[in-house]
Amino acid sequence: MPTHSFKLGVLVSGRGSNLQSILNQIEEGTVPAEVAVILSNKENAPALERGRQSGIKSLFVNPKDFTNRADYDSALVGILKEHGVDLICLAGYMRILNADFIRTFAGKIINIHPSLLPAFPGLNVHQQAIDHGVKFSGCTVHFVEEEVDSGPIILQAVVPVEKDDSAESLADRILQEEHKIYPEAVRLLAENRIRIEGRRVSIQEFTE
Ligand code: GAR
Repeated sequence: MPTHSFKLGVLVSGRGSNLQSILNQIEEGTVPAEVAVILSNKENAPALERGRQSGIKSLFVNPKDFTNRADYDSALVGILKEHGVDLICLAGYMRILNADFIRTFAGKIINIHPSLLPAFPGLNVHQQAIDHGVKFSGCTVHFVEEEVDSGPIILQAVVPVEKDDSAESLADRILQEEHKIYPEAVRLLAENRIRIEGRRVSIQEFTE
């Protein structure tokens, strides 16, 4: 893995395919960043194994070792600070972060969500989209704010919803796009090309 000064902390809970897409792009040299640490709230998350296979410190932090959410989140803050992270990527992290965590890393936390926000925040996103009858859905990379799935939008990608789609087939189609836009968003942030004004995010031209 190439080393870089722009350090990522990645929070995961499950499969880790988005983590993998970021690791692959780093490996290929497209994303000028380094994953400093991976943290999971689930012991058996395949994402941890992916991290370990790439030689990255990948830790299970057990929620049961803490009496409340605030203590848990402050333990995560401690680990992320220890590793000097510049950006925190939520990659299928299925726990809500508390306000102190979000304030500590204000403007430095991003998330990927499998819908075109602000449509269909929350859970069971693909079924929500099918049930609503939308003709297009997609995915969104956004900054994380205290209200869930609400922060300024960095990148989106659109996919059609087919008439015989199941939640699974739609999820598969959207996931392919997630794997493109998440590493791309990380690249733009690592290259310091993202500006936020209010809710609007602009992307600066690349200058050497
Ligand atoms: C992805 O589809 C991601 O968009 C979604 O969880 C999946 C994680 O897959 N995230 C959310 O729904 C967050 N609200 P992965 O573990 O293979 O990256």
